[in-house]
Amino acid sequence: MGVILAVAGSAVGLGNFLRFPGLAAQYGGGAFMIAYFLALLLLGIPIGWAEWTMGRAGGVRGYHSAPGIFHVLMGTPAGKYLGMLGFVVPVMVYMYYVYVEAWCLGYAWLALTGQLSAGTDFGGVFATYTGIAQDGSAVHFGLESVGLWLVICYALNFWFIYRGVSKGIELACKWGMPLLILIALVILGRVLTLGTPDLAKPDQNVLNGLGYMWNPGDIAAGLKNPELWLAASGQVFFTLTVGFGAICCYASYLKKKDDVVLSALTAASANEFCEVGLGGLITVPAAYVFLGTAGLVGMGTFGLGFNVLPQVFAQMPYGGAFAFCFFALLFLAAFTSSLSMLQPGVAFLEEGLGLARKPALALLGLISTFGSMLCWWFSKDLKALDTIDFWIGTMAIYVQGFILILVFGWSKGMGIERGWQEAHIGADMRIPRFYKFVMKWVAPAFLGAVLLMFILNSVFGWNFSFSAPHFAPTGRIKDLVGAEHSDPARLTFLFIAICVGFSALLMHLAGKRWTDNPKENKS
Ligand code: PHE
Repeated sequence: MGVILAVAGSAVGLGNFLRFPGLAAQYGGGAFMIAYFLALLLLGIPIGWAEWTMGRAGGVRGYHSAPGIFHVLMGTPAGKYLGMLGFVVPVMVYMYYVYVEAWCLGYAWLALTGQLSAGTDFGGVFATYTGIAQDGSAVHFGLESVGLWLVICYALNFWFIYRGVSKGIELACKWGMPLLILIALVILGRVLTLGTPDLAKPDQNVLNGLGYMWNPGDIAAGLKNPELWLAASGQVFFTLTVGFGAICCYASYLKKKDDVVLSALTAASANEFCEVGLGGLITVPAAYVFLGTAGLVGMGTFGLGFNVLPQVFAQMPYGGAFAFCFFALLFLAAFTSSLSMLQPGVAFLEEGLGLARKPALALLGLISTFGSMLCWWFSKDLKALDTIDFWIGTMAIYVQGFILILVFGWSKGMGIERGWQEAHIGADMRIPRFYKFVMKWVAPAFLGAVLLMFILNSVFGWNFSFSAPHFAPTGRIKDLVGAEHSDPARLTFLFIAICVGFSALLMHLAGKRWTDNPKENKS
């Protein structure tokens, strides 16, 4: 139960309440949901099973981080490098995720103290908090800015990790998850009973709000858009937290005969309930009812959450209380997720370098503070945050997920036959047989295609045409080279490269340690 709640806590995050509704509305509910559910069934769930299985198998042999787990399962020196992104990705996603977590906490405070009421300059508050207008403009420590909250979030995260897996992470998720669902249900009840608040605008009612999000629209045309497929698959990865080391790490604390099949499915289902059933019914319909399409088009994920929704709450009776609930909900969701980004890092530093928990946390704190400060200072257009989110939070997630499913289905140490058997040890249900085929062939092919298309399109600007292919460098490239370059993006990219290089060095050191005194069969 503890591990299921912890994995669900990791999965349910800002992605569920902000990123998902934003994407579904942008691409048109019907077509997006078809691609989304296909990606869930063919990528998210099978790769989740693979990751839970590998995590438990590695944990039984005494390893708790993706590099260690890949090392012991594959039995080759390359293993640790193949698992390397399972260390880099969570740690680097933490750097910017905690910054957004701090906005959530700060906004909850603003709501509680009545600073988000009607008449507030919402755009101004948004700019002050995020620093989106000017580099350095978010670096203040007063209660009305993000600094203090960032420090508090750091302290909370590291304190809970310091307390350990069961006294820290499990405790936070055991209380946090039910509380989160309860708050979400209260807000959902409020949104669904909004009716038609402004009789002068009869179109802006709850049903139309739900329709804006969920009416199928032109499904055939939507499904022909490759971008929609990329967005849907990317969302499945981000929201389920699969493929890159966090689940591996959590599942490694299971015992040999603990179930993984049903547990993986339960955690994924809990995430989907929160995403589609709660996130999908709250954010967008509420914004539509009060502001109409004008409030939604082109807002972006953060604009929707931190600029549009406060305005929406301010127009409701008892709006302050609901705004407080909403940002407390976002904070809880973000907090249980950010814990799962730190644990894989600590686990690796402990077992790879032989550090005790305190020095491991100190080192991790040093590295991640540096990254968070980049995001905090270079906040104009959220350049630093966005750069890490693209290269690490999107692309590297695909890469690591691809490696993971290949190792599970094809490597000498694991392979589909052994993996299938391993997954069913102590299992409370059997995986339907055709998933063996899915895990060996379909998931890697599907994900490989997504990764390739993503790189070609989002980096090299391919127009998706085979007959008349055309490439034009995207903003990602222009940010780094050429006349339009942006120095904050370059600096952040350099920082990413240094972190990756440094991690490779750590892998090398860890490998030496592990071959000199293997842990196998010790535990
Ligand atoms: N799944 C989380 C969300 O939906 C995000 C996350 C990313 C969590 C990476 C852990 C690691 O917000």
